[in-house]
Amino acid sequence: MKARGGEPKSSGITRLVYIAVAVAAIGGILFGYDTGVISGAILFITGEFSLSPTLEEVATSSVLVGAILGAISGGLLADRIGRRPSIIAASVVFLAGTGTVVVATGLSVFLIGRVLIGVAIGVASFVVPLYISEIAPSALRGGMVSLNQLFITLGILVSYGADYLFSASGNWRAMFAFGAVPATILLIGMFLLPGSPRWLVAHHQQDRATSVLRKIRGTSDVSGELDDIRRSVRMQETGNWSNLLAPSIRMPLIVGIGLAVLQQLTGINTVIYYAPTIFQFAGLHSATASIAATAGVGVVNVLATVVAVILVDRAGRRPLLLAGIAGMVVSLAVLGAGFAFGGAGSGGSLLGLITAVSLTAYVASFAIGLGPVFWLLIAEIYPLNVRGRAMSVATITNWAANFLITLTFLTLAGVMGRAGVFWLYALVGIVAWLFVLRLVPETKGLTLEEIEEHFRAGRHPRELKGAPKP
Ligand code: BGC
Repeated sequence: MKARGGEPKSSGITRLVYIAVAVAAIGGILFGYDTGVISGAILFITGEFSLSPTLEEVATSSVLVGAILGAISGGLLADRIGRRPSIIAASVVFLAGTGTVVVATGLSVFLIGRVLIGVAIGVASFVVPLYISEIAPSALRGGMVSLNQLFITLGILVSYGADYLFSASGNWRAMFAFGAVPATILLIGMFLLPGSPRWLVAHHQQDRATSVLRKIRGTSDVSGELDDIRRSVRMQETGNWSNLLAPSIRMPLIVGIGLAVLQQLTGINTVIYYAPTIFQFAGLHSATASIAATAGVGVVNVLATVVAVILVDRAGRRPLLLAGIAGMVVSLAVLGAGFAFGGAGSGGSLLGLITAVSLTAYVASFAIGLGPVFWLLIAEIYPLNVRGRAMSVATITNWAANFLITLTFLTLAGVMGRAGVFWLYALVGIVAWLFVLRLVPETKGLTLEEIEEHFRAGRHPRELKGAPKP
């Protein structure tokens, strides 16, 4: 491993770092599982609580409202009480929410539970990448933070499996209860893990920070890395919300908010949440066929994310984003064309095939680029004193845009036609590609302190070009 800045050169990568990363990333499973599980559960809940279509939408989207609330409160929490305690708090709220949903006998209690689950996911969605980015060695930070995204995709896949498993008996409570397993592991695991050394330095706990660094770097010589962190803490005022308006944070904030919006407005969650519906639009009317196709989408999402985890520290963040978004634009354009021209005359099976191939290519392209790299970059580009708060702003934007897309997809498909919606997302994809080309920095291999220094000097994000080859 190549060491950067004051990071110890002699250190190996300790087992403790791997364990800490793997345990924290379980937060990603909660995110994926609980956003995915509703798609199967809602069928039974609608029946049991006799929900109208509007109430069904409310029941489905309540978790997103909770996530927005969680993202709002999580920034302050992560900066004040620390990254590790925030993840612990999120697991407790998650378990409380799951318990509430499981015992709910009416819609209102169910909604309270789902909002609580959402709050927990909203916090975990960015504090987990934040925690991992602050303990990972810089040369491996991309892959380690992206493990969170890999676990999100696994959570989605497992939720499809749980929905399938429990749908025979119609046991929707069991579908939700299953989510308590990873939450309990996360809760216990985080108690046993070290806190973020960077947060500890910023909160004047030098001794604890030194001891954590020694443990996670596997060497007693951590003075260089500690000095780098101290120096960067000294350069900053104590963080508060108004610091977010500082000129040096403006560009990173635009990058984070822009990527947050574009990650969602290119339509990923129409596929994640509505894949069976899209396949039915395309003529796969049998439930088995559309469930199998949806499971296929889930598997591709996981596999392509594995590729991203492997490549992100070698190829870098920008190449993955640019290649991934280009792939999304092409596959969305083909998907739209399939709906526009493939249906009439050529038979449903051709449209079914075009839909399956282009949706698969689309999800794979998302999973290589915008999926993992958005969460990674927002954990890298903000200064330590406001990292939690700045990430929370990007995360709020992401969940709010998710909410918007999820609520408007079916209506838009009615108004513009199915082809029209996918072409609209393709157009947003072109904007996303240009945005990345012009504004997104390359952070590969750099320490968080080096990235911070670049922006403090008031330099443009594009001038940051990653660590030079050894
Ligand atoms: C996005 C989620 C999405 C998931 C799909 C995440 O990066 O933020 O909205 O559902 O990827 O894999």
